[in-house]
Amino acid sequence: MARKKIALIGGGQIGGILALLAAQRELGDIVMLDIPEKESMCKGKMLDIAESAGVLGFDVSVTGTSNYDDIAGADVVIVTAGLPRKPGMSRDDLLDINVKIISDVAKNVKIQAPRAFCIIVTNPLDSMVYAFQKVSGFPKHRVCGMAGVLDTSRFQTFVAMEMRVSVKDVSAVVLGGHGPTMVPLTRFCTVGGLPLTQVMTAAKIEAISARTREAGTEIVNLLGNGSAFVSPAASAIAMAESFLLDQRRVLPAAALLSGEYGIDGYFIGVPVVIGAKGIEKVVKLKLHRDEQEALMKSVDAVKGAVADVDKRI
Ligand code: APR
Repeated sequence: MARKKIALIGGGQIGGILALLAAQRELGDIVMLDIPEKESMCKGKMLDIAESAGVLGFDVSVTGTSNYDDIAGADVVIVTAGLPRKPGMSRDDLLDINVKIISDVAKNVKIQAPRAFCIIVTNPLDSMVYAFQKVSGFPKHRVCGMAGVLDTSRFQTFVAMEMRVSVKDVSAVVLGGHGPTMVPLTRFCTVGGLPLTQVMTAAKIEAISARTREAGTEIVNLLGNGSAFVSPAASAIAMAESFLLDQRRVLPAAALLSGEYGIDGYFIGVPVVIGAKGIEKVVKLKLHRDEQEALMKSVDAVKGAVADVDKRI
């Protein structure tokens, strides 16, 4: 059987970790693409990873390029291409630039990898995944945004740290947009099968939820330069793996909704089943009124960003 092919569009911080994780897990042959000015850097980064194969023992090819022909027929495309916000740059300036980049990526992916399962990571996530789907015209089951897996992983980590238990026994789900309006569904969080609400005080749970909402900013402030790159990469790989291996994992992801949760036409973080066909199912939950209200607040924030994208494409 031919190996699967994974295209990474964007060879920056997250791109590098994506390549390493995908290679180590032997998910398929990996091609990383960046702009022509960074082709050499991209080739260097990938050669470095390729040269770790002797020690790490993986049998997949790992290459860098700036030519879209090289991603032809990719099964999975993970997009991290974009510019980070720089001092003095407004949100609108950033949106202008990143919408142009994502539109260019979507057009090229449509030509070279028309059947790929596409995972968008570029921020602002909720509007960039929308822009990618709008320009590519790909069906909704083949385009999703990576946010919920990361937000959930952060929540799980903080619970495990607070309780001094294995993170493997912490199960959680975070819904909504990728930003301060995200909705950790603490009611559904379990620790070793026990409801979190019975083993932790409400105040501690709220503190963990608040930290989760600001976790991206916490990392940005600590790093001083750049944003989180290991945990976002690991999260996108979990989604890609569930697709490539038809694991049918239930993961929170930004999916284009058509009426589920009372939301229509927006990509919002909800639990989905990811299998060989892509997003095979949106899992519907009966939310309490406060949870539904929090989710709709999150949707309002996404609506504003999407309106800004619509003005540009
Ligand atoms: N085509 C391909 N790659 C591009 C393009 C383009 N048109 N424009 C920019 N890039 C590349 C940049 O050259 C850079 O190498 O995208 C890469 C982005 O890498 P970093 O700046 O290191 O950003 P990273 O930390 O990887 O984050 C990527 O994911 O989580 C989000 O907020 C984060 O939007 C950011 C994205």
